Amino acid sequence: MKTRVTKAIFPVAGLGTRFLPATKSIPKEIMTLVDRPLIQYAIDEARAAGIKEFIFVTSRGKGALEDYFDIHPMLEQTLRRAGKDGLLEMLKNTNMDSGEIAYIRQHKALGLGHAVWCARRLIGNEPFAVILPDDVIAAEKPVLQQMVEAYEQTGGAMVAAMEVPPDKASSYGVLDIEEDMGDLVKVKGMVEKPAAEEAPSNLAVIGRYILTPKVLANISKVKSGAGGEIQLTDAIAAEINQNRGVYGFRFRGQRFDCGSKAGFLQATVAFGMARDDLRDEFTAYLDEMMSVRRAAQ
Ligand code: G1P
Repeated sequence: MKTRVTKAIFPVAGLGTRFLPATKSIPKEIMTLVDRPLIQYAIDEARAAGIKEFIFVTSRGKGALEDYFDIHPMLEQTLRRAGKDGLLEMLKNTNMDSGEIAYIRQHKALGLGHAVWCARRLIGNEPFAVILPDDVIAAEKPVLQQMVEAYEQTGGAMVAAMEVPPDKASSYGVLDIEEDMGDLVKVKGMVEKPAAEEAPSNLAVIGRYILTPKVLANISKVKSGAGGEIQLTDAIAAEINQNRGVYGFRFRGQRFDCGSKAGFLQATVAFGMARDDLRDEFTAYLDEMMSVRRAAQ
């Protein structure tokens, strides 16, 4: 089996009901964090990790995503004529080379595991990454790159992991820890969205994975799990029963849950403050807001 990770799956078939009415006509992955759609952050992170093939698992109504990665000759021509080289350069990052990107439809909303499985024919016999674009992670070294480096030592399957408050564990896949080695954790079990009292730890799975084709084979065998869906967590957990290593990786970075409104707003503030072109004006505004708020209390 080839060991370099050069393919990534982006499950983007979800309806995004938490962001209605916006998602009535735009895919949630196109929603904008400062000035870039969420999906662009995921693509940039994948590229930094050496990913060369980008596989999108989509559904009806996701056409805006395909357009976003397409070349836009009229726009480029207009910018060129106007001498807007900076903007032209920025657009280059959004264009995909021919054959670099593939779209597969998930015809039925049967869960994350099923979405990943839909891409099985494009994976072949090599490890691959999965990135959930809702989980945006600000990090000095992009998180998938951190994981690819760690994976070179472990092999097996690897999930990004983060400690969450115990009362939040039931919103995540949760790791049952066999051996805690610091950044790396050897896993002896995984539970998708456990009841609070049944969570084996408070180390939660975050939306970055490096998986092997064996996990794809497991998906076709696992029964529907939490929420009646085919869960990726269950297919990864099956690896452990088959005596193959599964690891959690405590990444260095700050994760934002852009699948929730509060998380999206937090990300907007954090990414806005991190931008050289916005920092001064934006932080001055936030300071003012806070002092008005304090004065009113
Ligand atoms: C998915 C996974 C879950 C993981 C989470 C991270 O859940 O099923 O294991 O912890 O992403 O964001 P979702 O949030 O899509 O329900």
